Amino acid sequence: MIRVVVGADDAIATGANLVAEVVAARPDATLGFATGATPAPLYAELARRRQAGLVDFSRAHAVALDEYLGLAPDHADSYAHQLHREVTGPLGIAREHCDFLRGDAPDPDEECVRYERVLARGVDLQVLGIGRNGHIAFNEPGTDVASRTRVVQLAPSTRQANRGLLSTLADTPEAALSQGVGTILEARRILLIARGAAKAEALERALRGPVDPACPASALQLHDDVTVIADEEAAAGLAQAGAIRST
Ligand code: F6R
Repeated sequence: MIRVVVGADDAIATGANLVAEVVAARPDATLGFATGATPAPLYAELARRRQAGLVDFSRAHAVALDEYLGLAPDHADSYAHQLHREVTGPLGIAREHCDFLRGDAPDPDEECVRYERVLARGVDLQVLGIGRNGHIAFNEPGTDVASRTRVVQLAPSTRQANRGLLSTLADTPEAALSQGVGTILEARRILLIARGAAKAEALERALRGPVDPACPASALQLHDDVTVIADEEAAAGLAQAGAIRST
């Protein structure tokens, strides 16, 4: 089932409530965190609640969705670095409870196999963003719904959109390690966040179109516990399609 909540602050509060609920029910929950710009307000709200003593992540575990191939965890543009800086640090998740994909692993294929074993212990909640082309994690259009964690080539548009602040496009890796669509679907609960008009078409295809590898996010229709939080701009296509709206 997919529940859609549209709005700005209300939607972020809904997302934060969901994360808090998962951690309250299971203090040592495993949380999967997306990087990128979209979840920043959610992470900020969770950090605020943690500061206020409303939620405690000290026993929680963190896993990642994806990582650039070739980047070590201490590289400023690596997703591991971004997650520590913007998410697990502010939330107070212990370093030893963070297990992220190693972009600099000597054998990237073996690293993907290792990560499948890590994820097989169970992900209680996976936070996702969505690409303008409908990707989730780095599963670009054409990815099979049964795909597993593996090395993937990035679409030129994804490299352009995800260019690190410190990097030129030429420095942005052409490949990544990414959880597969099938891997993501094994998370117990999924929270997808979409913000901005640039995501409207992808979100509409994901939620209202057929389940189709051309839009990898459409595979979320196969999961039984998905919450989508979207601002008005990202939800524009859903409104036109007469989708459920609630705040
Ligand atoms: C990030 C990731 C990507 C992003 C997507 C949206 O870990 O897996 O799928 O969620 O590219 O990125 P933003 O939020 O920067 O628009």
